[in-house]
Amino acid sequence: MGDNVWQRFFDGFAPQYEDEMFTKGTAAEVAFLVDLLDLPSGARILDVGCGTGRHSVALAARGYRMTGLDISAGMLAEARAAAEAAGFDVELLQADATDFSLPRAFEAAICLCEGAFTLIGEGDPVEHDLAILANVREAIAPGAPFVLTASNAMRLIREATHEQVAAGVFDPMTQSQSCDMEWKDADGPHSLAARERGYVPTELALLLRHVGFAVEHVWGGTAGNWGRRPVDLDEYEIMVVARRPREDAPEPRRREEGA
Ligand SMILES: C[S@@+](CC[C@H](N)C(=O)[O-])C[C@H]1O[C@@H](n2cnc3c(N)ncnc32)[C@H](O)[C@@H]1O
Repeated sequence: MGDNVWQRFFDGFAPQYEDEMFTKGTAAEVAFLVDLLDLPSGARILDVGCGTGRHSVALAARGYRMTGLDISAGMLAEARAAAEAAGFDVELLQADATDFSLPRAFEAAICLCEGAFTLIGEGDPVEHDLAILANVREAIAPGAPFVLTASNAMRLIREATHEQVAAGVFDPMTQSQSCDMEWKDADGPHSLAARERGYVPTELALLLRHVGFAVEHVWGGTAGNWGRRPVDLDEYEIMVVARRPREDAPEPRRREEGA
């Protein structure tokens, strides 16, 4: 899986992750997803960048068969403990979202709250994102929906200063900003320099279309405040609801005449 700064950060930050305010809206987010996805009980859902499994465990409690995928062993350990404590089976897999293959025909996929998307590394950010989207598309069944929330670049751009651009803190070419990611453990405080990328709505739609998704909705997607409403310029995240087109399905075999 190579050296991934976000993996190192989340391995260390995992025990503290659910103290963050943005994780407190899980129940409302899951209610929104259940209504939006409208899937039968037992449907299989892939949660990309599942983190501590807060959506996966709550969706398992609603009767869905959940698979959570994440690069961080620390976050997956928290997810495993949460699933066990709640008494639900959640399949948890350690993998890089840019480099996985799970051709299982999931009935839906979710990638929420910057689960892998947005969290870029040293390489080409567009290749990073296209790889994730292509892997998700291959993992879900034709006709299956995909719900993605990713950082809103309009907010980043409105807040960025010329000084930050000159200092390389904000890069307008990739709409990314540098951030010092901090956490504490028994050894004391730690800090890692990382980069986070934002997206404008048209760009997200085009990225998804580029790998063969049909884009159905682009809505405001800030954690704890999801809704079927337009994106606000200053909110943290954008939600895209897309679908792998049905015409991806293999041609149905026709019955031989007289058979
Ligand atoms: C901000 S957390 C979001 C977790 C969860 N989706 C939620 O809503 O709470 C981002 C997660 O993405 C994972 N992640 C980052 N880069 C990844 C990658 N390339 N592949 C898989 N997971 C990744 C991190 O380990 C972390 O658990």
